Amino acid sequence: MEMIPVNEPLFGDRELEFVGECIRTGWISSSGRFIEEFEEQWSAFCGMPHGVAVSNGTTALQVALRCLELEPGDEVIMPTFTIISCALAVVEWGGVPVLVDCDPSTWCMDVSQVEGKITPRTRAIMPVHIYGHPVDMDPLLALADKYNLFVVEDAAEVHGAEYLSGRHGTVTKWKRCGGLGHISTFSFYANKLITTGEGGMVLTARQDHAERARSLRNLCFRRDRRFYHTDLGYNFRMTNLQAAIGLAQMERMGAIISRKRWMGQAYSERLRDIPGLQLPVEEPWARQVYWMYGLVLDESLGMDAREFARRLVDLGVETRPFFLGMHEQPVLLERGLFRGERYPVAERIARQGLYLPSGVALTEDQLDRVCEAVRQVITCR
Ligand SMILES: Cc1ncc(COP(=O)(O)O)c(C=O)c1O
Repeated sequence: MEMIPVNEPLFGDRELEFVGECIRTGWISSSGRFIEEFEEQWSAFCGMPHGVAVSNGTTALQVALRCLELEPGDEVIMPTFTIISCALAVVEWGGVPVLVDCDPSTWCMDVSQVEGKITPRTRAIMPVHIYGHPVDMDPLLALADKYNLFVVEDAAEVHGAEYLSGRHGTVTKWKRCGGLGHISTFSFYANKLITTGEGGMVLTARQDHAERARSLRNLCFRRDRRFYHTDLGYNFRMTNLQAAIGLAQMERMGAIISRKRWMGQAYSERLRDIPGLQLPVEEPWARQVYWMYGLVLDESLGMDAREFARRLVDLGVETRPFFLGMHEQPVLLERGLFRGERYPVAERIARQGLYLPSGVALTEDQLDRVCEAVRQVITCR
């Protein structure tokens, strides 16, 4: 039986052509025309003035946080339901991640819990758009104004997703995720809508942050004196080879987004009538891209996501579990963080949630087979 993979990237002739150019010309490291073009095109696509390409989405977060020049002990509010990269980028300079639970329908951070977590040490809020659906950004941007905080937007999972800003006021505007906060980050890992294999980007509206990000990704080399350092940076450079792949993929951005939206809607149509399954939503203020098509099993089914995944594998369907909350991570608890804190929504969806095959290369026939398998597992318990 052929296993349907949870993700499979899709490449075309343009990727081969652009990568071929890197090989033919010898521009294979972190200089070359594709890097700058990719930075320009991606930042323009997201509506941000500056883009700084880096080695992955984790390093993008590290660079973004370091651009803000925060002090040890400063607090950053983030969702517990996210990847460890978010917490890592805060604790590495002595910062303190402060958590909120997630919204039970979008699975993004519950923005109504944020103000209650603000203290005199709070410096930033880090919204993380989850599985293709935007966070409700307006309330966060209002809090950021009120308390003078940075908004660091982790847009790794929402390439091309849009948010209707200003819906409580008189002027509304659809804006792309990654163009909403003060500084934002992306991942271009192989399972993302646009991939560079490994890769990431920091976007910012501020020239000084862009310059600092460029310096941090390149070991803080100084322009005036080579090999003389006044700050510690990293080698987080993206290669021209990687940028070549990303730029080639960007030519198909419209088609990729349409395909993903088709996939999400096709899954929902086929799974809607199965009892006990919570499907992804699309709020009226969001255009989501279904990066990964998630499901949450109702506890009344008497089955958790691990058991569900095991049964789906037997039917040839690969899945991935949902995130485990930051407050349940031993490595963070050992540092004295989040002692005794409970986040019931994140805990439940971590136990009961998984995502189905969602790659750009997924065919309609495969999607039908996944839906039949889901139906079989739920109805033949
Ligand atoms: C929300 C979020 N942030 C950051 C990352 C880290 O990206 P990378 O795997 O490129 O380091 C990911 C990875 O998928 C992610 O989902």
